Amino acid sequence: MERLDGRIAIVTGGARGVGSAIARRLIEAGARVVLGDLRDEAGESTAAELGGAATYLHLDVTREADWAGAVKRTLADHGRIDILVNNAGRLHMGAIENTSPEEARGVVEVNLIGPFLGIRAVAPAMKAQGKGAIVNVGSVDGMLGMNGVAMYAASKWALRGLAKSAALELGRSGIRVNTVCPAGGNPEMYGPWMEQLAGMIDQTKSYTEDRALPGEAPLGAIADAVLFLASDDSRHCTGIDLPVDGGAHAGRFMPGFNEL
Ligand SMILES: NC(=O)c1ccc[n+]([C@@H]2O[C@H](COP(=O)([O-])OP(=O)(O)OC[C@H]3O[C@@H](n4cnc5c(N)ncnc54)[C@H](O)[C@@H]3O)[C@@H](O)[C@H]2O)c1
Repeated sequence: MERLDGRIAIVTGGARGVGSAIARRLIEAGARVVLGDLRDEAGESTAAELGGAATYLHLDVTREADWAGAVKRTLADHGRIDILVNNAGRLHMGAIENTSPEEARGVVEVNLIGPFLGIRAVAPAMKAQGKGAIVNVGSVDGMLGMNGVAMYAASKWALRGLAKSAALELGRSGIRVNTVCPAGGNPEMYGPWMEQLAGMIDQTKSYTEDRALPGEAPLGAIADAVLFLASDDSRHCTGIDLPVDGGAHAGRFMPGFNEL
């Protein structure tokens, strides 16, 4: 018997990157997964690649009506919702003075209001079942500050606050709410800023190299952490933040000091 046999999961932002890696891992553990995203073509092809346990539907996480439709269809097709992974995310890079209020609001809409609407939409079904696991995908930027991504970082900090509050509110209904905080993901998320970042190789390398475990978090490691929090293995964990960051927030490794 696999850890998630018979469980039904919704994974937002599931068309590519971290979301598709999470969907794959949940399916390997026995779950059936509904992928939601804006990228319909990529979403359909990811679902086809994942096989019969995956289906895709259009789900803009900022739209309440899309959430109602996703929950209705999932319940009609599968009869229950055991797991929600709030993975969809939007990055904006730019100093505060170069970030428009519209860009700032757009980031908050996807990274904070999206998960709020998602929790709100699945809670009644999970309460009726007396059980559910909600896992948010945050970021190392939601545990530390970071220049050049202020509103992204702020939205991910807020997401942790939402998760802890929801954990308290829903715990007595058997619903757990936790957050995975990775340092790394799909490089395609940096799309519009790729060219500028290509000129900062030394800076970005040193940013990831001074960790206890150097380098970016592999997608599979992030997916494993989500699987842990989605499964009964973490049955007494709620309201927690699980960094998958190679020790980034533990401190900085100082080259040479090991030889003192
Ligand atoms: N890429 C990184 O380096 C990194 C680092 C830390 C955390 N994360 C987090 O990991 C998660 C997944 O990101 P990724 O790295 O796979 O990047 P990605 O850009 O490949 O994936 C994000 C997905 O979210 C979808 N999305 C965006 N807005 C949406 C909306 N309104 N409704 C539904 N779907 C929407 C996109 O279409 C995309 O498929 C995000 O929450 C991100 O903040 C990423």
